[in-house]
Amino acid sequence: MSSPMLLLPLLLFTLNSYSYVASSPLYETFVQCLSKNTKNNQISNIVYSSQNPSFTPVLQDYIRNARFNTSTTRKPSLIVTPLNVSHIQATIICTKQFGLQLKIRSGGHDYEGISYVSEVPFIILDTFNFRSIDINIKDETAWVQAGATLGELYYKIWQTSKVHAYPAGVCPTIGVGGHISGGGYGNLLRKYGLTVDNVIDAQIIDAKGRLLDRKSMGEDLFWAIRGGGGASFGVVLAYKINLVRVPPIVTVFSIDRTLDQNATDLVYRWQFVADKVDENLFIRFLVVPATIQNRTTVKVTFNALFLGDSNTLLSVIKSQFPDLGLTKQDVKETSWIQSVLYWYTLPIGTPETVLLDRKYPGSFFKRKSDFIQTPIPKQGLEGLWKKVVLGEAGLAFNALGGKMSQIGETETPYPHRNGNIFKVQYFVNWKEEGIEAEKKYLKQTGSLYDYMTPFVSKNPREAFLNYRDLDIGTTDNGKNTYNEAKVYGLKYFKENFDRLVKVKTAVDPENFFRNEQSIPPLVY
Ligand SMILES: Cc1cc2nc3c(=O)[nH]c(=O)nc-3n(C[C@H](O)[C@H](O)[C@H](O)COP(=O)(O)OP(=O)(O)OC[C@H]3O[C@@H](n4cnc5c(N)ncnc54)[C@H](O)[C@@H]3O)c2cc1C
Ligand SMILES: *[C@@H]1O[C@H](CO)[C@@H](O)[C@H](O)[C@H]1NC(C)=O
Ligand SMILES: *[C@@H]1O[C@H](CO)[C@@H](O)[C@H](O)[C@H]1NC(C)=O
Ligand SMILES: *[C@@H]1O[C@H](CO)[C@@H](O)[C@H](O)[C@H]1NC(C)=O
Ligand SMILES: *[C@@H]1O[C@H](CO)[C@@H](O)[C@H](O)[C@H]1NC(C)=O
Repeated sequence: MSSPMLLLPLLLFTLNSYSYVASSPLYETFVQCLSKNTKNNQISNIVYSSQNPSFTPVLQDYIRNARFNTSTTRKPSLIVTPLNVSHIQATIICTKQFGLQLKIRSGGHDYEGISYVSEVPFIILDTFNFRSIDINIKDETAWVQAGATLGELYYKIWQTSKVHAYPAGVCPTIGVGGHISGGGYGNLLRKYGLTVDNVIDAQIIDAKGRLLDRKSMGEDLFWAIRGGGGASFGVVLAYKINLVRVPPIVTVFSIDRTLDQNATDLVYRWQFVADKVDENLFIRFLVVPATIQNRTTVKVTFNALFLGDSNTLLSVIKSQFPDLGLTKQDVKETSWIQSVLYWYTLPIGTPETVLLDRKYPGSFFKRKSDFIQTPIPKQGLEGLWKKVVLGEAGLAFNALGGKMSQIGETETPYPHRNGNIFKVQYFVNWKEEGIEAEKKYLKQTGSLYDYMTPFVSKNPREAFLNYRDLDIGTTDNGKNTYNEAKVYGLKYFKENFDRLVKVKTAVDPENFFRNEQSIPPLVY
């Protein structure tokens, strides 16, 4: 596009259409291309250039990590907010024609912001207008579009039935498009597995602009978009999911234990039980630095969801994890939908409509992940506490096992199945702007991650795709070679990486759908 011969007609065009104040050469020609490919001249309403006053709000509406919300963050050349399938098809065709990169965004929760940031000139295709949810309670299934949030899905399920649910993430503002395609998990995973273990059909628009369903895309591509990430393969429009059954009454608790209250012994013992206990019970524990009576120490919080009543829960804990000292006063019986709010740290009794709120209180943050396959010795835990008290970063240990262990490693691209006790998340949030603050906090998660090396999975050191972490390897956005991709690919997918490459090679050999951690085609 940089040759003078090409620029001249573009400039003339802009001068001619002087009445469009909010226009740029790219905007004009892109809108023309879209109109031509959709036979629809209302198209200008769905394309935003940086001169449009709505550009910044539309961009920022689905930015969740303040690190990528700064004046120096690379901005898209255009944002397209399609209203129907033909708009998406035309956006793919035109973005390809213009030689730009396409970033697909649904809920914008990507930890590294790769759905709305790029190092090369790019366009954002934002699916937030695609948010319909159609529940068929007789079949116990639903079609849910990519731009719906988990909160909207949970709310709609609850409106339809008080004994159904869908096993997905904890944060209600997460988008379906990124979350399901990345193999999302939540507190129902020990009973029902991951999002992708409960997907039965999908609609995707491929690099040629074709709208495909499970039958027409074939089982290989359908396999790939259940955990391999959508963004390497096409624009996911919708998933058909199986709803799962939950009892009308569930039980939750959240209890803190400090080091003085034997937190070390508790964590140590829990490691031998977490993945083996009754699969109706899910417990996550968080390890954070805390100040108690002017002393810096470590606080461990056990958060639980039990698919059953409180008496049954108390007897399960009494026989499997008596050291926790759980009492009747610690636990609360409630409905599944209220347990969703409780896990989102809202008090039980909060109106369910808060699940429809798309606003998210953003902050600066960093996340990393690990998998634990053997219990950490007590000395190892004590060493970890010494690191935790030095900073603000913490760790979340999510129990696995149950259904997760009954599904084979190659059934979906998500490989971290039997033999894993915990998925670990390293987390740090901060409020201070600037590169110095960022350096300080990234060093904290980095130091915890380094410390954990001897205690976590090895060769490869496994990682969870939905906990996007660019530290574990990236590809040059333009080139995306197999050898670069293999570094992070084996961590996210183990032996499934090569099958993902095969699928990619078959469906997108020109590598149109690419990003910092995408799956490359073999011949490119
Ligand atoms: C506060 C918070 C809490 C979280 N909690 C959990 C949790 O409990 N469990 C869990 O598993 N994860 C959790 N995550 C991670 C989350 O699941 C992933 O970031 C997920 O990918 C987000 O999906 P999204 O659509 O919101 O994100 P986006 O940033 O829009 O997309 C993420 C990735 O998917 C691609 N993508 C998005 N939409 C489409 C589409 N329609 N077609 C093709 N590709 C697409 C994007 O290009 C990008 O690569 C959490 C994240 C945050 C910020
Ligand atoms: C991004 O910045 C705008 C102001 O420029 C602010 O309103 C918004 O809350 C910010 N979002 C995040 C996630 O930091
Ligand atoms: C797509 O959306 C546009 C704008 O709302 C509308 O004019 C057009 O009829 C729609 N096409 C289809 C196939 O729904
Ligand atoms: C901690 O453990 C010791 C020894 O096992 C026990 O005596 C003590 O009561 C425990 N304290 C708490 C608060 O559980
Ligand atoms: C904590 O420190 C403050 C100021 O140093 C002091 O006033 C307070 O009494 C201390 N509290 C405890 C519980 O030691």
